[in-house]
Amino acid sequence: QYKAVTKTPPMGWMSWFPFIDKIDEQKIMEVADAMVKSGLRDAGYKLLQLDDGWMAAERDAEGRQYANTTRFPHGMKYLADYVHARGLKIGIYSSNGMKTCAGYPGSYGHEEKDAQTYAARGIDYLKYDACGEKEKHTDRELHTRMSKALQATGRPIMFEICIFSSGATHLWGAEIADMWRTGGDIVKFIERTPEVTYKNWYNNLQQVVGKENYAGNGHWNDPDNLIVDYPRNNKQTYEEQKAQFSLWAIVSAPLILGNDVRDMSAATKAILMNKEIIAVDQDAATKPGTRVLSDDKREIWVKQLKDGSKAVVLFNKEDTDATLTLNFKDIGAAKK
Ligand code: GLA
Repeated sequence: QYKAVTKTPPMGWMSWFPFIDKIDEQKIMEVADAMVKSGLRDAGYKLLQLDDGWMAAERDAEGRQYANTTRFPHGMKYLADYVHARGLKIGIYSSNGMKTCAGYPGSYGHEEKDAQTYAARGIDYLKYDACGEKEKHTDRELHTRMSKALQATGRPIMFEICIFSSGATHLWGAEIADMWRTGGDIVKFIERTPEVTYKNWYNNLQQVVGKENYAGNGHWNDPDNLIVDYPRNNKQTYEEQKAQFSLWAIVSAPLILGNDVRDMSAATKAILMNKEIIAVDQDAATKPGTRVLSDDKREIWVKQLKDGSKAVVLFNKEDTDATLTLNFKDIGAAKK
């Protein structure tokens, strides 16, 4: 039985959306400082995850993955210490095939060594992708291998899995991982900011529908990161960006930031550090909300909270203002 590392959805930041694979020690240290200074850490965003691009093109003499020495001159342990000293957790990325999605060395055939290396360097989270050649093995088999290797280290390392071959990871994800991606990238490499619109996140949200009951109590559907970055992300209105944050909270998604937190507008901070919405995401009942009503123009989502109350999102999908009516019977709150 896989033991989840935390009970509520993880909150943090990941490097892929703002920086692609152009990450280095200096930037990451600045991000760590910014997470503290901006108040993000104290609002709950404790995880700082380095995505693809951190590793050297080869393994070292002992067969270990190590950080690219030009980009990370002091190595990963140094960076982990720096991040930990600021009250944050550090995450890293690899893939179950021979190469990662951006072409760096993957963990295929090195699972135990890599898990031990991560533990020795103080890593707290691994995002594990499904790119690269893997002979005849299935993603499930290889993801399970890494899950066991991580657990064998004795260090609690949160484990996230990605998969491309099937949309059914939610059926078995909780057996081996803390969280699993429910679909493809929220923003494809080729259509980066500022071309990103609300459709990017709306499509990813659809992939969670029907999977709600597989999540909860430490195991999460992950529709990918938040693309809140106003006004920079200007093909999305302020309201559209608020809508993503609210809907991610109602489905108990991990709240993983995808903006450059070193440079955030007051408007972006106001969305990302909205205490009441974060509390809905992090509610102790850990029960993902569901969509109870949907037509072309509107949706209603409801989430049961620990104190007996319900959180509701009234979601207007039109470009103009609208009046939405909430019937208590639609949210199971009508008198008998
Ligand atoms: C895949 C993942 C992304 C990101 C990239 C890195 O596309 O889905 O989130 O990690 O790989 O190459």
